[in-house]
Amino acid sequence: MQAHRAELEAVLRLGEALGLEQGLPYVRHWSAAPDFLALLVEHLRRERPAVIVECGSGLSTLILARVCALEGRGRVWSLEHEPGCAAQTRDAIARYGLARVATVLHAPLRRYRLDAENYDWYDLRGLPEQAIELLVVDGPPGRLAPLARYPALPLLRARLAPGCTIFLDDANRPDERAIVARWCAEYPAFELGRPATARGCAVLRAQPAVASEAL
Ligand SMILES: C[S@@+](CC[C@H](N)C(=O)[O-])C[C@H]1O[C@@H](n2cnc3c(N)ncnc32)[C@H](O)[C@@H]1O
Repeated sequence: MQAHRAELEAVLRLGEALGLEQGLPYVRHWSAAPDFLALLVEHLRRERPAVIVECGSGLSTLILARVCALEGRGRVWSLEHEPGCAAQTRDAIARYGLARVATVLHAPLRRYRLDAENYDWYDLRGLPEQAIELLVVDGPPGRLAPLARYPALPLLRARLAPGCTIFLDDANRPDERAIVARWCAEYPAFELGRPATARGCAVLRAQPAVASEAL
């Protein structure tokens, strides 16, 4: 209970710091944690990525969009399989006048076959073909299937810009640890960082010099 209160207060402080005072789409246990969001804010300010793709919409979409608007750079596409969650995130984006920097794509989960295994992951048909400079992986929900977030890298790697950075939330969970281990084994051009956050975070960065050949 105390931990939840502290998290809620940290979310409110982050919202206040970004001038988001007309309500936040915060859902206990589901929203990205404030320390993970703070890392994203720091990354956006430092690296100023132009094309941001997110898996799993919500509070993180609003935060990313707001920082893009404040920085005058960057545009967010958020893949969301739940129509109700997509609508809620769109409402928040519209409430703050951020629709020009963020688009929530309703992307139903569809079956993919990767290395002789089946995965249900986002339908990518609505996603524009621009090179992705920042990829934030916070969906689909881990409880849907084992390694539910693994397809992000194999399915999006051809669209990643050289030097692209990937943030994975909930990286302390056994499933996410397995996903990171697999990504690192399959894509050795990525360098792994593990900044300390309450729920765990993995940051993978493609090395620009080798990214185009080895991804
Ligand atoms: C970890 S959540 C994504 C959270 C998002 N990045 C944020 O910061 O709010 C992953 C997915 O869970 C689903 N989800 C979100 N809230 C939910 C709820 N209250 N009940 C069930 N599913 C939910 C949505 O489809 C969402 O994309």
